[in-house]
Amino acid sequence: MFKVNDNYLKLPGSYLFSTIGKKVNAYSAAHPDKKIIRLGIGDVTQPLAPAIIDALHGAVDEMGKAETFHGYAPDLGYEFLRNAIAENDYKARGCDIAPDEIFVSDGAKCDCGNIQEIFSLDNKIAVCDPVYPVYVDSNVMAGRTGTYDPKSETWSDVIYMPCLAENGFAPELPKETPDLIYLCFPNNPTGATITKAQLQEWVDYANKVGAVILYDAAYEAYISEPDVPHSIYECEGARTCAIEFRSFSKNAGFTGVRLGFTVIPKDLKSGDVSLHALWARRHGTKYNGAPYIVQRAGEAVYSAAGKAQLKEQVAYYMNNAHYILNGLKEAGFTVSGGVNAPYIWLKAPNGMTSWEFFDYLLENVNVVGTPGSGFGPSGEHYFRLTAFGSYENTVEAVDRLKKIRL
Ligand code: MLT
Repeated sequence: MFKVNDNYLKLPGSYLFSTIGKKVNAYSAAHPDKKIIRLGIGDVTQPLAPAIIDALHGAVDEMGKAETFHGYAPDLGYEFLRNAIAENDYKARGCDIAPDEIFVSDGAKCDCGNIQEIFSLDNKIAVCDPVYPVYVDSNVMAGRTGTYDPKSETWSDVIYMPCLAENGFAPELPKETPDLIYLCFPNNPTGATITKAQLQEWVDYANKVGAVILYDAAYEAYISEPDVPHSIYECEGARTCAIEFRSFSKNAGFTGVRLGFTVIPKDLKSGDVSLHALWARRHGTKYNGAPYIVQRAGEAVYSAAGKAQLKEQVAYYMNNAHYILNGLKEAGFTVSGGVNAPYIWLKAPNGMTSWEFFDYLLENVNVVGTPGSGFGPSGEHYFRLTAFGSYENTVEAVDRLKKIRL
């Protein structure tokens, strides 16, 4: 009789956003007359920018002619896109990253989830708490996290780095030495950031202890403050200790189009084994590349028109973020985030748990957010709202939240 990978059986519950989706769908089916405003999952709502639509149309036409048809994409991605990324996301910021250190993929979520495969099962991971669930769950599936304690909602072999109001939602260097350190800034879910000097401390630490930082920079387009780094490679020494994940979902609205990339510098090695070579081997074996059409759309993100249009789109969402932040502050909520990130992190009122507040909002004002405890034990009593709704829905949601009396 075959056996399943029983690491999967250790996973508590379903994936956070699936659980939320099921709850909201059940409520909506029972109350079809209610207008539910969804500020839960960080999914964009604005249409693709015209420069991207033009590029998509152009590429679709190319696929319809024998002379310009494209089959399998090159393993690492098309050069036109990798050159644009290297030039705009790295060289322009003074980062030393070559086009052939960039692996184009269909999104940062898959890459963040899959990257752990190239590391030994003995490696110990450190995560922020609260944290994007993919980092932990993918390590659970691989069998790297030990046993789960339902009481503390923690895994025995994971190092948790609490990110609380007291430390400005920024992790402190762990007491126990990790091998793999997951960091995400601007942060999902708290919306917090760290300065370049703080990130430099992490890079120095990782180089000192021989750890790898898995740096998720999916939200970098939302940075508004000058001392916040857009890439870990702005820090000295990051080429020998950091892998960076980027996404086109949040900066260009590609959640339904799918495109992202991972950077692995060739200097990043375990002894003489290059992580770049391992990931290239994995990519070549398990992945056939993001579609040509989509990579052409990605290229348009870096065109002059694309840049201008996307700047406006990001500003649109950040206007929502400010509206939520200021509105909830006025209403007396304890709120943070929303300045360099499209997420607002608020304290559930009157000591309610995150899920109690979730249910209360869904049932009483028909607003959906994400319970902080779904991101880890230190997220308990917190709640996340996204700025990715339409302006009109955002205003209405804030008005509804202002009216609640608890
Ligand atoms: C979120 O809501 O945290 C994001 O949508 C997650 C993601 O980008 O996969």
